[in-house]
Amino acid sequence: MIVARTAEELAAVPHHGTRVVVMTMGALHDGHLALVRRAQELGDQVVVTIFVNPLQFNEAADYERYPRTLEADCALLESLGVDAVFAPGDEVMYPAGVPVVSVSAGVIGTVLEGAARPGHFDGVVTVVAKLLNLTQPQVAVFGAKDAQQVIAVRALVRDLNFPVAIATASTVRDPDGLAQSSRNVFLSPSERESALALSRSLQEADAAAQAGRSLADVVAAGREVLSRAAGVEVDYFSALNPADASEVQGDYRGEVVIAVAAHVGATRLIDNVTTRIGPPEGAVGAEGELQ
Ligand code: PAF
Repeated sequence: MIVARTAEELAAVPHHGTRVVVMTMGALHDGHLALVRRAQELGDQVVVTIFVNPLQFNEAADYERYPRTLEADCALLESLGVDAVFAPGDEVMYPAGVPVVSVSAGVIGTVLEGAARPGHFDGVVTVVAKLLNLTQPQVAVFGAKDAQQVIAVRALVRDLNFPVAIATASTVRDPDGLAQSSRNVFLSPSERESALALSRSLQEADAAAQAGRSLADVVAAGREVLSRAAGVEVDYFSALNPADASEVQGDYRGEVVIAVAAHVGATRLIDNVTTRIGPPEGAVGAEGELQ
């Protein structure tokens, strides 16, 4: 496995077949391994980037104490058969400190998770743009669990014409449905039980959507589950337009990302499901009527 630390070392890594990139901030866990496996399914050459991006942290202290475990991360990636790692330092990514030109996530960066973390998604799309330019992949894989990040990255690629396909790796779940997260270790046994309400609320909403119910009914079905859950303080339970993370309203029909964020005790958890309101795409009858 090649470990490149500079743009020049990375550029010297020969491409073979379809190159797929997985972007990480290191301190790798099972969620990252699922991304690597998905990348290996999708292409011939997997490049993993490891860079703790200062632009996406709201608190300097959080950035400073973010775990940096490069040696262990590289050993793990090598054992998985990853072809190359790009692990640049700050001086490679931001030689002049904060960049003069950067990318804005626009309205996507101001709602939901973005409202709680101003500037976070601008920092994410800026580093993703730089890493796409540096790694030159045909495909980039992101975790579906971070739904708003996926929406922001897809918008970046669409609106700025990056020649790359964005793929997602499904959220890894425990057998009872709880989305795996490094924060789950902070849950007491009773909080963990309460936290199941998040995935259940999404299952109910998805079931209602698949049964052909209206947007209002779908959202109500999910919120009803949360309203009955003890110890769960909901930040939002919203149906989002996958194009721009705006909340869909009224008689909207089409694909939606239903996203939930809630505090369970002191731990803030997020989860989401992608579903469809209204008939399946392309379900057109002989008369041209939607079925
Ligand atoms: O999801 C992450 O770990 C980060 O936001 C990413 C995509 C690597 C950008 O720094």
